[in-house]
Amino acid sequence: MREPDLSVEIAGISLKNPVMTASGTFGYGEEYASLVQLDRLGAVIPKGISLEPIEGNPPPRIVETAAGLLNAIGLQNVGVESFVREKLPFLKRYGTPVIVNIFGYTMEDYVRLAERLDDEGIAGLEVNISCPNVKRGGLCFGHDPRTAFEVIHGVRAKTSLPVIAKLSPNVTDISVLVRSVQDAGADAISLINTLLGMSIDVENRRSKLGNITGGLSGPAIKPVALRMVWQARALARVPIIGVGGITTAADALEFLIAGASAVQIGTAHFTHPRASLEVVDGIRQYLRTHGIARVTEIIGSLRNG
Ligand SMILES: Cc1cc2nc3c(=O)[nH]c(=O)nc-3n(C[C@H](O)[C@H](O)[C@H](O)COP(=O)(O)O)c2cc1C
Repeated sequence: MREPDLSVEIAGISLKNPVMTASGTFGYGEEYASLVQLDRLGAVIPKGISLEPIEGNPPPRIVETAAGLLNAIGLQNVGVESFVREKLPFLKRYGTPVIVNIFGYTMEDYVRLAERLDDEGIAGLEVNISCPNVKRGGLCFGHDPRTAFEVIHGVRAKTSLPVIAKLSPNVTDISVLVRSVQDAGADAISLINTLLGMSIDVENRRSKLGNITGGLSGPAIKPVALRMVWQARALARVPIIGVGGITTAADALEFLIAGASAVQIGTAHFTHPRASLEVVDGIRQYLRTHGIARVTEIIGSLRNG
């Protein structure tokens, strides 16, 4: 049998395989480059970028929980100008599509970021409209269908790049948000960002995080993410990218079968820097074992689903 075809297309972006790195868990790529052949990944999504550099929240910013990680990094990043000048050239060397995750505090921030990144040779924009784990006020765009619509619509109007809306799971009904960003012109949807959580040190009765609350990620959230991907797939006309707790190829396959056209690996990188590549190899092995010629054949193939 010929080698299975792992390629997928998401929002017009051709990926050699459906495995990407989740924003914020793979630095700017260079931190992992000695361990991970970046040209073997489907796409790289670096740390979320804002207009100005951000220092992030006071420490402690990371806490381990029974089956996941709580983080309150506060979206620390170098800002768009340094990113374009100092980080992007390195990433572009590998020929792997670079999808830039952006976030802002106002509508205007998002629009200016989209305009600024339009001609930088990146493959697409992932627009993080999840409420950031930051004290600084501002709207939580992703929790209200109308503001979610406005942000995605505003970005869509100002860029020729594919626009991927990254949604927050901290809502009552994810379907409403999926419809909203889709109607606004999103070319794909990433599901999910972290779930809001908390952890307390009982000896001093203080939160273990400087920011008090944080975002829960890792294996603990996988069933929630999987359910949301499946739910979204039923009503979305655009591809869904599954993210949340994926550590192994079997995890990734669950998301593909539930209807994700691609997956992102996040927290797994912290214990297992080469997790993304192992997921690629594991998917290939599964296809070989089951005599499946193309990975696209298993997308949304849930039986009785
Ligand atoms: C330390 C850390 C930083 C993150 N930073 C970002 C970010 O800058 N932008 C974003 O959209 N998501 C960010 N995320 C969310 C991840 O991209 C991903 O959606 C989430 O962690 C769920 O996937 P996982 O369980 O595989 O980690 C971050 C997650 C972690 C753990």
